[in-house]
Amino acid sequence: MSKPLTVHGYTEEQLMEMKPDDLRAIFHERTHHTVEVLIYRILNGTRKMPEGFGVVAEHLLGIWKKRGLPLDPPDIRWCIRYIGLARRMRNGEEVELGPTPWESFTENEAETVERLILGRRSIRQFKPEPVPDEMIRRMLKAGLYAPHGCNVGCTRFLVLRDPEEQKLVRSDIPIENCVMIVVLQELSMYKTLRFDEYVPQNLYFDAAAAADHICLMAHALGLGSCWLTHGEETQRRLREHFNLSQTMTSRNHIIIGWPGEETIKSERMSLDEVILN
Ligand SMILES: Cc1cc2nc3c(=O)[nH]c(=O)nc-3n(C[C@H](O)[C@H](O)[C@H](O)COP(=O)(O)O)c2cc1C
Repeated sequence: MSKPLTVHGYTEEQLMEMKPDDLRAIFHERTHHTVEVLIYRILNGTRKMPEGFGVVAEHLLGIWKKRGLPLDPPDIRWCIRYIGLARRMRNGEEVELGPTPWESFTENEAETVERLILGRRSIRQFKPEPVPDEMIRRMLKAGLYAPHGCNVGCTRFLVLRDPEEQKLVRSDIPIENCVMIVVLQELSMYKTLRFDEYVPQNLYFDAAAAADHICLMAHALGLGSCWLTHGEETQRRLREHFNLSQTMTSRNHIIIGWPGEETIKSERMSLDEVILN
């Protein structure tokens, strides 16, 4: 009799009982590591297809479906797409990836991106003018699309517009006339995968990448922003005020508004000084 399939040591029964977010993290991570990372090498002939290619991700999809969890969110559709490709490859069918949605930038576009990156600066005073909701959503989307370790997907946001709520967050500078985005993480997703033991640094990197993307998008929209950090006291207050789970942990916050100061862009060391070889 073949051994029942376990995923990261979890049996099917355990996966059936697990919090949906935690199962989703495993589903993302297994699709990423057991299909996405391998498939392109297999397709270009530099790697042999492993036995049972895609089976673990497909098993997780089966559990996801059995639990009646939604199949239409974009991250789940992404998993399903890879699972379908892996199944066809297992069956010896030819697979067509279709047109890639990725196109190189023109030189002009690349210069614009460079202008964005080199021109962004921290802005700490803002005009008393509201930031439209549509812009906030664009910044949040930029944050969500930041790279994140092992495709776990545990980044969450709070948008604080009310100055009283903003006082929950301890900052080292006065906070006025801005919207505040708090970057949080659902730690239970990391813990389920034991990433808090294996790659604890990723927790901080994930939040940092999201914050940086938000600051860049803010600059692209003509807004000013500043990334700020906070500690355990703020984490506790946000958890209590918003009734968040004990495992939902804030990492940093970004203040955003219409620039109310003309700042001299800070400079860095010369590139040659920081390249070590
Ligand atoms: C991890 C991190 C923590 C930061 N914390 C603060 C902070 O607590 N207060 C603050 O005014 N600025 C903070 N900043 C903004 C930095 O001071 C700023 O990015 C740096 O001085 C470079 O200036 P620039 O952003 O204008 O290029 C932080 C930035 C990062 C990346």
